[in-house]
Amino acid sequence: MSEQEVVGVLGAGRAGTAFARVMLRVGIGVDLCSTRPPKALQHHLKIYAPGAEAVWPDQIGVRTARQGPGIVILAVPQEDMDGVDPSWLYTTGPEPLVLVDATNTWHDEELPSWLQAALDEQLPSSYGIAGRFGQTRVVKALNHISHHDLEKFADAELPLDQRRAVALAGDDDAARGRVMGLLVRMGFDPVSLGGLAASRPIEPEGPLFDRPLRREEILRFAQ
Ligand SMILES: NC(=O)c1ccc[n+]([C@@H]2O[C@H](COP(=O)([O-])OP(=O)(O)OC[C@H]3O[C@@H](n4cnc5c(N)ncnc54)[C@H](OP(=O)(O)O)[C@@H]3O)[C@@H](O)[C@H]2O)c1
Repeated sequence: MSEQEVVGVLGAGRAGTAFARVMLRVGIGVDLCSTRPPKALQHHLKIYAPGAEAVWPDQIGVRTARQGPGIVILAVPQEDMDGVDPSWLYTTGPEPLVLVDATNTWHDEELPSWLQAALDEQLPSSYGIAGRFGQTRVVKALNHISHHDLEKFADAELPLDQRRAVALAGDDDAARGRVMGLLVRMGFDPVSLGGLAASRPIEPEGPLFDRPLRREEILRFAQ
Protein backbone atom coordinates (compact mmCIF):
# COMPACT_ATOMS: atom_id res chain seq x y z
CA MET A 1 0.00 0.00 0.00
CA SER A 2 1.43 3.43 -0.91
CA GLU A 3 2.00 5.93 1.89
CA GLN A 4 -0.66 8.64 2.32
CA GLU A 5 0.36 12.02 0.91
CA VAL A 6 0.82 14.63 3.64
CA VAL A 7 0.90 18.42 3.32
CA GLY A 8 1.90 20.86 6.09
CA VAL A 9 -0.14 24.01 6.79
CA LEU A 10 1.40 26.85 8.77
CA GLY A 11 -1.47 28.79 10.36
CA ALA A 12 -4.73 27.31 11.65
CA GLY A 13 -7.15 30.19 11.15
CA ARG A 14 -9.88 30.65 8.55
CA ALA A 15 -7.66 29.96 5.56
CA GLY A 16 -5.41 27.27 7.06
CA THR A 17 -8.28 25.14 8.38
CA ALA A 18 -10.24 25.51 5.10
CA PHE A 19 -7.19 24.30 3.12
CA ALA A 20 -6.96 21.40 5.57
CA ARG A 21 -10.64 20.44 5.27
CA VAL A 22 -10.49 20.39 1.48
CA MET A 23 -7.34 18.26 1.46
CA LEU A 24 -8.66 15.89 4.11
CA ARG A 25 -11.82 15.22 2.16
CA VAL A 26 -9.81 13.97 -0.82
CA GLY A 27 -7.63 11.76 1.37
CA ILE A 28 -4.56 13.99 1.77
CA GLY A 29 -3.14 13.96 5.30
CA VAL A 30 -2.56 17.36 6.93
CA ASP A 31 -0.13 18.54 9.60
CA LEU A 32 -1.08 21.94 11.04
CA CYS A 33 0.59 24.35 13.42
CA SER A 34 -0.17 27.75 14.91
CA THR A 35 1.09 29.79 17.86
CA ARG A 36 -0.53 27.24 20.16
CA PRO A 37 1.18 24.09 21.41
CA PRO A 38 -0.08 20.95 19.65
CA LYS A 39 -2.20 19.81 22.59
CA ALA A 40 -4.19 23.05 22.64
CA LEU A 41 -4.35 23.22 18.87
CA GLN A 42 -5.65 19.65 18.62
CA HIS A 43 -8.85 20.74 20.46
CA HIS A 44 -9.38 23.51 17.90
CA LEU A 45 -8.77 21.07 15.03
CA LYS A 46 -11.34 18.61 16.37
CA ILE A 47 -13.90 21.26 15.46
CA TYR A 48 -12.34 23.05 12.48
CA ALA A 49 -10.30 20.35 10.72
CA PRO A 50 -11.15 16.94 12.12
CA GLY A 51 -8.53 14.41 11.07
CA ALA A 52 -5.67 16.92 10.83
CA GLU A 53 -2.63 16.47 13.07
CA ALA A 54 -1.44 19.30 15.29
CA VAL A 55 2.35 19.60 15.31
CA TRP A 56 5.00 21.98 16.66
CA PRO A 57 5.96 24.63 14.09
CA ASP A 58 9.47 23.21 13.63
CA GLN A 59 7.88 19.88 12.66
CA ILE A 60 5.64 21.32 9.96
CA GLY A 61 7.79 20.15 7.06
CA VAL A 62 8.90 16.82 8.48
CA ARG A 63 6.23 14.34 7.38
CA THR A 64 5.61 15.98 4.02
CA ALA A 65 9.35 16.00 3.21
CA ARG A 66 9.52 12.23 3.59
CA GLN A 67 7.64 11.93 0.31
CA GLY A 68 9.98 13.73 -2.05
CA PRO A 69 9.57 17.47 -2.46
CA GLY A 70 7.31 18.22 0.49
CA ILE A 71 4.70 20.98 0.45
CA VAL A 72 3.93 23.48 3.20
CA ILE A 73 1.16 26.06 2.77
CA LEU A 74 1.81 29.42 4.44
CA ALA A 75 -1.46 30.75 5.90
CA VAL A 76 -0.27 33.22 8.56
CA PRO A 77 -1.22 36.92 8.26
CA GLN A 78 1.67 38.91 6.78
CA GLU A 79 1.68 41.22 9.81
CA ASP A 80 2.57 38.18 11.99
CA MET A 81 5.25 36.85 9.67
CA ASP A 82 8.17 37.92 11.88
CA GLY A 83 6.99 35.18 14.26
CA VAL A 84 7.52 32.52 11.59
CA ASP A 85 11.07 31.27 11.95
CA PRO A 86 12.58 30.44 8.54
CA SER A 87 14.48 27.55 10.15
CA TRP A 88 11.13 25.71 10.59
CA LEU A 89 11.10 25.29 6.83
CA TYR A 90 14.58 23.96 6.48
CA THR A 91 14.66 20.29 5.58
CA THR A 92 17.56 17.89 5.70
CA GLY A 93 15.87 15.87 2.94
CA PRO A 94 17.35 15.74 -0.57
CA GLU A 95 14.99 18.42 -1.90
CA PRO A 96 13.94 21.79 -0.47
CA LEU A 97 10.34 22.26 0.63
CA VAL A 98 7.85 23.83 -1.74
CA LEU A 99 6.27 26.75 0.13
CA VAL A 100 2.81 27.75 -1.10
CA ASP A 101 2.46 31.44 -0.30
CA ALA A 102 -1.28 31.80 0.32
CA THR A 103 -0.91 35.19 2.04
CA ASN A 104 -2.06 38.67 1.06
CA THR A 105 -1.05 42.23 1.81
CA TRP A 106 -3.79 44.24 3.50
CA HIS A 107 -3.01 47.89 3.80
CA ASP A 108 -4.22 48.18 7.38
CA GLU A 109 -1.51 45.73 8.49
CA GLU A 110 1.86 46.83 9.80
CA LEU A 111 4.27 44.65 7.91
CA PRO A 112 7.67 43.29 8.92
CA SER A 113 10.43 45.57 7.60
CA TRP A 114 11.79 42.91 5.19
CA LEU A 115 8.37 42.54 3.59
CA GLN A 116 7.70 46.27 3.49
CA ALA A 117 11.09 46.72 1.80
CA ALA A 118 9.99 44.46 -1.09
CA LEU A 119 6.73 46.39 -1.46
CA ASP A 120 8.61 49.71 -1.37
CA GLU A 121 10.57 48.43 -4.37
CA GLN A 122 7.21 47.88 -6.14
CA LEU A 123 7.66 44.10 -6.05
CA PRO A 124 4.84 41.59 -5.49
CA SER A 125 4.68 40.49 -1.85
CA SER A 126 5.68 36.95 -2.87
CA TYR A 127 9.17 38.33 -3.61
CA GLY A 128 9.48 39.35 0.02
CA ILE A 129 8.29 35.91 1.12
CA ALA A 130 10.70 34.17 -1.29
CA GLY A 131 13.60 36.27 0.03
CA ARG A 132 12.73 35.56 3.65
CA PHE A 133 12.22 31.82 3.16
CA GLY A 134 15.09 31.43 0.72
CA GLN A 135 15.68 27.78 1.57
CA THR A 136 12.27 26.87 0.07
CA ARG A 137 10.86 27.10 -3.45
CA VAL A 138 7.98 29.57 -3.25
CA VAL A 139 4.82 29.24 -5.31
CA LYS A 140 2.09 31.84 -4.94
CA ALA A 141 -1.29 30.10 -4.88
CA LEU A 142 -4.54 29.69 -2.94
CA ASN A 143 -4.41 33.34 -1.79
CA HIS A 144 -6.98 34.67 -4.25
CA ILE A 145 -9.93 32.46 -3.27
CA SER A 146 -11.85 33.03 -0.03
CA HIS A 147 -12.14 30.23 2.50
CA HIS A 148 -15.90 30.07 1.80
CA ASP A 149 -15.41 29.64 -1.93
CA LEU A 150 -12.55 27.24 -1.44
CA GLU A 151 -14.78 24.72 0.28
CA LYS A 152 -17.81 25.43 -1.86
CA PHE A 153 -16.12 25.08 -5.23
CA ALA A 154 -13.40 22.46 -4.70
CA ASP A 155 -14.78 19.40 -6.49
CA ALA A 156 -12.45 16.59 -7.40
CA GLU A 157 -15.32 14.64 -9.02
CA LEU A 158 -15.84 17.17 -11.81
CA PRO A 159 -13.90 17.07 -15.08
CA LEU A 160 -11.19 19.75 -15.15
CA ASP A 161 -12.97 22.01 -17.63
CA GLN A 162 -16.03 22.28 -15.35
CA ARG A 163 -14.10 23.14 -12.19
CA ARG A 164 -13.33 26.53 -10.67
CA ALA A 165 -10.01 27.68 -12.09
CA VAL A 166 -7.29 28.93 -9.74
CA ALA A 167 -4.03 30.63 -10.64
CA LEU A 168 -0.50 30.03 -9.43
CA ALA A 169 2.89 31.61 -10.03
CA GLY A 170 6.41 30.52 -9.17
CA ASP A 171 9.94 30.69 -10.53
CA ASP A 172 10.76 26.99 -10.19
CA ASP A 173 9.07 24.79 -12.82
CA ALA A 174 9.18 21.62 -10.74
CA ALA A 175 7.72 23.36 -7.68
CA ARG A 176 4.95 24.88 -9.79
CA GLY A 177 4.21 21.44 -11.22
CA ARG A 178 4.05 19.99 -7.73
CA VAL A 179 1.54 22.62 -6.59
CA MET A 180 -0.50 22.17 -9.77
CA GLY A 181 -0.80 18.47 -8.93
CA LEU A 182 -1.97 19.33 -5.41
CA LEU A 183 -4.57 21.81 -6.71
CA VAL A 184 -5.91 19.21 -9.15
CA ARG A 185 -6.26 16.67 -6.34
CA MET A 186 -8.02 19.29 -4.20
CA GLY A 187 -10.61 19.72 -6.96
CA PHE A 188 -9.59 22.83 -8.92
CA ASP A 189 -8.43 23.58 -12.44
CA PRO A 190 -4.99 25.18 -11.86
CA VAL A 191 -3.54 27.62 -14.39
CA SER A 192 0.03 28.89 -14.28
CA LEU A 193 0.60 32.63 -14.69
CA GLY A 194 4.38 32.16 -14.96
CA GLY A 195 7.10 33.24 -12.52
CA LEU A 196 6.56 35.12 -9.25
CA ALA A 197 6.81 38.38 -11.18
CA ALA A 198 3.52 37.39 -12.83
CA SER A 199 1.66 37.10 -9.49
CA ARG A 200 0.30 40.66 -9.43
CA PRO A 201 -3.13 39.82 -10.94
CA ILE A 202 -3.89 37.52 -7.99
CA GLU A 203 -2.96 40.09 -5.35
CA PRO A 204 -5.90 41.81 -3.55
CA GLU A 205 -6.15 44.73 -5.96
CA GLY A 206 -5.61 42.55 -9.02
CA PRO A 207 -8.25 41.55 -11.58
CA LEU A 208 -8.18 37.84 -10.64
CA PHE A 209 -8.62 38.30 -6.89
CA ASP A 210 -11.67 36.75 -5.22
CA ARG A 211 -13.66 36.18 -8.39
CA PRO A 212 -15.15 33.04 -9.92
CA LEU A 213 -12.74 32.19 -12.71
CA ARG A 214 -12.44 29.99 -15.74
CA ARG A 215 -9.16 28.88 -17.29
CA GLU A 216 -9.40 31.30 -20.27
CA GLU A 217 -9.72 34.35 -18.00
CA ILE A 218 -6.55 33.45 -16.11
CA LEU A 219 -4.66 32.63 -19.30
CA ARG A 220 -5.19 36.20 -20.50
CA PHE A 221 -2.78 37.30 -17.74
CA ALA A 222 -0.21 34.53 -18.15
CA GLN A 223 3.34 35.64 -19.02
N1 LIG B 1 -9.56 33.97 5.17
C1 LIG B 1 -9.54 33.71 3.86
O1 LIG B 1 -10.60 33.52 3.20
C2 LIG B 1 -8.22 33.63 3.13
C3 LIG B 1 -8.16 32.95 1.91
C4 LIG B 1 -6.94 32.86 1.24
C5 LIG B 1 -5.81 33.46 1.80
N2 LIG B 1 -5.90 34.13 2.98
C6 LIG B 1 -4.69 34.75 3.56
O2 LIG B 1 -4.15 33.84 4.52
C7 LIG B 1 -3.53 34.60 5.59
C8 LIG B 1 -4.18 34.15 6.90
O3 LIG B 1 -5.53 34.57 6.89
P1 LIG B 1 -6.64 33.97 7.88
O4 LIG B 1 -7.91 34.60 7.47
O5 LIG B 1 -6.57 32.49 7.92
O6 LIG B 1 -6.14 34.56 9.28
P2 LIG B 1 -6.62 34.13 10.74
O7 LIG B 1 -7.98 33.52 10.68
O8 LIG B 1 -6.40 35.32 11.60
O9 LIG B 1 -5.58 32.97 11.17
C9 LIG B 1 -4.22 33.23 11.32
C10 LIG B 1 -3.51 31.97 11.83
O10 LIG B 1 -2.11 32.24 11.82
C11 LIG B 1 -1.57 31.72 13.04
N3 LIG B 1 -0.32 32.41 13.36
C12 LIG B 1 -0.11 33.72 13.63
N4 LIG B 1 1.21 33.93 13.91
C13 LIG B 1 1.81 32.71 13.80
C14 LIG B 1 3.13 32.26 13.99
N5 LIG B 1 4.11 33.11 14.32
N6 LIG B 1 3.40 30.95 13.84
C15 LIG B 1 2.42 30.07 13.51
N7 LIG B 1 1.13 30.44 13.31
C16 LIG B 1 0.83 31.73 13.47
C17 LIG B 1 -2.64 31.99 14.07
O11 LIG B 1 -2.37 31.17 15.18
P3 LIG B 1 -3.35 31.05 16.45
O12 LIG B 1 -4.53 30.25 15.95
O13 LIG B 1 -2.52 30.30 17.45
O14 LIG B 1 -3.69 32.44 16.86
C18 LIG B 1 -3.88 31.59 13.27
O15 LIG B 1 -4.08 30.20 13.35
C19 LIG B 1 -3.75 36.08 5.26
O16 LIG B 1 -2.61 36.61 4.63
C20 LIG B 1 -4.95 36.05 4.30
O17 LIG B 1 -4.99 37.15 3.41
C21 LIG B 1 -7.08 34.21 3.67
